[in-house]
Amino acid sequence: MNGLVKKFKSIFDPSSPEAELLERIDSNKLPRHIAVIMDGNGRWAKQRKLPRVAGHRAGIKAVRAVVEAAARLPISVLTLYAFSAENWKRPRSEVSTLMNLLKDYIRQELSTIQKNGIRFLTIGRIDELPHSVQKELRFAEEETRDNKGTKMVVALNYSGRLELVDAFNQLLKEGVSYPISEDNIEKSLYTVGLPEPDLMIRTSGEMRVSNFLLWQIAYAEIYVTDVLWPDFREIHLLEAILEFQQRERRYGGIRFTSFHNIQ
Ligand code: FPP
Repeated sequence: MNGLVKKFKSIFDPSSPEAELLERIDSNKLPRHIAVIMDGNGRWAKQRKLPRVAGHRAGIKAVRAVVEAAARLPISVLTLYAFSAENWKRPRSEVSTLMNLLKDYIRQELSTIQKNGIRFLTIGRIDELPHSVQKELRFAEEETRDNKGTKMVVALNYSGRLELVDAFNQLLKEGVSYPISEDNIEKSLYTVGLPEPDLMIRTSGEMRVSNFLLWQIAYAEIYVTDVLWPDFREIHLLEAILEFQQRERRYGGIRFTSFHNIQ
């Protein structure tokens, strides 16, 4: 039994498909940062002739499973795209359900988040969210600020383009001198201090980046699965990680072995 199988043995039997995947995952090459576009809640609900909000409610179970698995592996940073700056265009009732789900999630999960040493963080234009939501988010951030485990980053009222606009405006306000550098921009992003995503997962089969972490995903491996978000579980996360480990990352260079051969 390898170390990862042991870590999960209270939830997965050693003969389970999850344990089989864990056996094949190299614990020394885990992605440091996984970003997830949680998509397909509406379709999940439609397939069951349920209102769209039932899909979002079911999506919470997937959030719980993925966050706890990330903490157990462990993954340093897990960023979840929960509400985009474009999502305000949805019906008011859907928006308010999403906001309430977020508050409920924090209230119900904060003790588990604490127990797992997870640090809760947010990115996006948080000050434009309803005050009651902001209050809950700030509370979770404050309560978990000293936790040293996985950083769970929730993207809310988030847009990759607006993040860059905010970064440039901050630089102008600070009076940064010409010319600006990549380093200047990185230090002004919402994600300052976090490693870039190594792996970006999108559920429900769409091949789009949807304005998520545009700057930060420059070299991320993109993994798209047909699984709809409410059905996404630990096994799907492990499949994505295994596929990530089988890819060859070159960052615009050439394979290290070939490089070695030319020397
Ligand atoms: C996309 O599905 C999903 C969302 C816009 C919301 C995701 C939010 C949650 C799962 C709940 C809150 C999250 C946390 C972190 C507690 P869609 O509605 O666009 O699906 P569709 O493309 O099938 O219509």
